[in-house]
Amino acid sequence: MNQKVTKAIFPVAGLGTRFLPATKSIPKEIMTLVDRPLIQYAIDEARDAGIEEFIFVTSRGKSALSDYFDDSPVLEAELQRKNKTELLEVLRTTNMESGQIAYVRQAGAKGLGHAVSCARRLVHDEPFAVILPDDVIMSDKPCLAQMMEAHAETGGSMVAAMEVRPEETSSYGILEVDDTASQAMKVRGMVEKPRSEDAPSNLAVIGRYILSPNIMNSLSGLGAGAGGEIQLTDAIAREIDGEGVHAFRFEGQRYDCGSKAGFLQATVAFGLAREDLRDELAGFIADLRLSQSQA
Ligand code: UTP
Repeated sequence: MNQKVTKAIFPVAGLGTRFLPATKSIPKEIMTLVDRPLIQYAIDEARDAGIEEFIFVTSRGKSALSDYFDDSPVLEAELQRKNKTELLEVLRTTNMESGQIAYVRQAGAKGLGHAVSCARRLVHDEPFAVILPDDVIMSDKPCLAQMMEAHAETGGSMVAAMEVRPEETSSYGILEVDDTASQAMKVRGMVEKPRSEDAPSNLAVIGRYILSPNIMNSLSGLGAGAGGEIQLTDAIAREIDGEGVHAFRFEGQRYDCGSKAGFLQATVAFGLAREDLRDELAGFIADLRLSQSQA
């Protein structure tokens, strides 16, 4: 029986340069998809997968993120006074219990691997999950919960994987796997951001991981990798010949909300998935297409 995973790391210390100038003062993770910040989707997914401790790796200029999880007594009192019970309920689902959240600081954006290693003292010797909030996944069963189930069987480390277009391999960690037909595939090799001609496949790692505590040791001995950053992929690759790594082909649609086009696509998809918005939004899109085809 593999050890239960109850801790998740949320690396949110990146600079978010692709969303400048917005990210000059708004952390990317607090930007809203319909009416909830990206970080709320990540928290909900983690909770659903049984996570009990939420560890944020933050940096300068991210105070809006920690404020978001505090309760808001003035707002709550006002909603109560006006009898707006539904909104009150929405607000309360965002509160986190005292002691459930921990914040560690990353001094300088030295890469995802470095960000994860900043949480090593809070993780101790337990397996842990990592969620990148800018990867938002729409699915019936949340992605991390799907992975937890598979991980209970495989143990070791596990990364979420999906096929990308050949010209996109240079933006991802790319996997070499054995049994391409199964949902949890044994990983033989991993390389960070290869050019398409050097990529072993077009199976890419996206922002959900369940990792062995060994990763923390590997990270502390790692130098800069691709792009001059300390890469999480490099530390996970060291596990291939150790406890093993599996790539999990999740069910669902992933949106890259770290990019402008991905964020816009997610906004439309999540808007259309909402009963209260669907008709109006679908009507608007149909009118827009019609007027464009006539132009
Ligand atoms: P990205 O590669 O998307 O970088 O990081 P970024 O800084 O957020 O955005 P751009 O590329 O400048 O637009 C993926 C995840 O890793 C975190 C980010 O916050 C994001 O959740 N990260 C990245 C860190 O926490 N620290 C780092 O040093 C780098």
